[in-house]
Amino acid sequence: MALSLLYLSHYLSLFMLVSTSSVLGQDCVFNVKDYGAIPDGEADNSKAFLTAWSAACQAKQDCTVLIPDGTFIVNPVVFQGPCNGQITFQIDGVVMAPTDPCIGLENWVAFDHVNGLIVQGQGLFDGQGASAWEQTNCKKTLDCNAPPSSIRFNFVTTATIQGITSLNSKFFHFDVFGSDDVTFANVKATAPADSPNTDGIHVGNSNRVTITDSNIATGDDCVSLGPGSKNINVTRVNCGPGHGISIGSLGRQQGEEDVRGITVRNCTISNTENGVRIKTWAPSPPSTASDVTFQDIIMNNADNPIIIDQKYCPHDSCSDQAFYYRPLIFPYIYIYMQGNSLVQLSDIKFINIQGSSSAKTAVKLQCSESVPCQDIELDTINITYHSDNEETASSCSNANVNYSGTQNPPPCPQ
Ligand SMILES: *[C@@H]1O[C@H](CO)[C@@H](O)[C@H](O)[C@H]1NC(C)=O
Ligand SMILES: *[C@@H]1O[C@H](CO)[C@@H](O)[C@H](O)[C@H]1NC(C)=O
Ligand SMILES: *[C@@H]1O[C@H](CO)[C@@H](O)[C@H](O)[C@H]1NC(C)=O
Ligand SMILES: *[C@@H]1O[C@H](CO)[C@@H](O)[C@H](O)[C@H]1NC(C)=O
Repeated sequence: MALSLLYLSHYLSLFMLVSTSSVLGQDCVFNVKDYGAIPDGEADNSKAFLTAWSAACQAKQDCTVLIPDGTFIVNPVVFQGPCNGQITFQIDGVVMAPTDPCIGLENWVAFDHVNGLIVQGQGLFDGQGASAWEQTNCKKTLDCNAPPSSIRFNFVTTATIQGITSLNSKFFHFDVFGSDDVTFANVKATAPADSPNTDGIHVGNSNRVTITDSNIATGDDCVSLGPGSKNINVTRVNCGPGHGISIGSLGRQQGEEDVRGITVRNCTISNTENGVRIKTWAPSPPSTASDVTFQDIIMNNADNPIIIDQKYCPHDSCSDQAFYYRPLIFPYIYIYMQGNSLVQLSDIKFINIQGSSSAKTAVKLQCSESVPCQDIELDTINITYHSDNEETASSCSNANVNYSGTQNPPPCPQ
């Protein structure tokens, strides 16, 4: 019996080898150099990349677009689907953005409406963000001059992004929107700690996204899960410097989709402005975020290791009492809003979170007075002040918290 199983598995792997090589025959690799791309760090290769993409996309089988060694300057491009087969975007070299800040554009490199995509390789996307960081005012005002995200996935289904590095994005490094079944594995995102809005991986309006075994060191959130994020798993991510792993910001616009089914596990967060965070604007229109678990997290010197902030406002243009927002359907008008956040947070778990805080208040649960947080659970929390084992403190408002296991800092008075 054992022998025949062994034979069977040999036979199967042989068969798989043969069938893959016949499907992925040599003629189904589209090398951008064969379409006129010149890796001299000067020529604009957008047209060559787009032509290679169309050829691969139109082929009646699974194909590869190959970016070989060398530095290829590429202006903003959209790799448009749907395609006939699965496309592997193999990056061995460096894809480099123009130095122009490209203010107002949505993306540098985008994949749009592609079903079946693999973006992989040891290569690098260099966003050349420095000029954009000087010109953007998105930290100061809501209606800001935003530069483009580096790599955008718009309405992409069944995609894997693995091995690649994103460096110095002008805005977000990776930006996933309207997508389903997307996995990031072994990716790297790097930008200086003071670079504005350089979130590592941002997800919005997407279902079933996995982010795993990745290293993110940047100037804003390592991972940010915006409105409409559903069934998201973040595991074994090293984060820092940056602003931590965040849900939100939520409640910035009317009609936002709810957030639910978020698990962040086995992550290490070092030297960040926040650790694990949920942030909602105040005031804000109603929506919900529920079924969220942060578990097995190590904090090294994080500033706000555990934080729910329902009075989030990073700009000068709002105060605790009032704020202008733009409805999705009429983005040209501003509505003056007063009051609290109406984003209802419920079923939020923080389990086994240990390490050190750079601030005395290690747990901050600032929930909305209008819709207090429901079913918050803190189980086995041990966060010391700096590394000196000094005691930390908690601060809570409008939070219904269920404590179990070790609690350092000690719980809020109930
Ligand atoms: C996330 O993890 C949970 C439990 O580990 C699993 O049941 C679920 O299928 C995972 N979701 C995705 C999108 O992989
Ligand atoms: C998390 O880490 C622990 C200990 O290293 C390991 O046993 C567990 O399988 C890991 N879980 C995940 C989801 O990576
Ligand atoms: C909490 O963490 C400190 C520092 O790592 C450690 O010395 C202490 O034993 C821990 N306490 C518990 C109850 O785990
Ligand atoms: C609090 O947590 C304990 C242990 O997990 C659980 O048995 C209990 O039902 C929880 N209580 C509430 C009100 O959620």
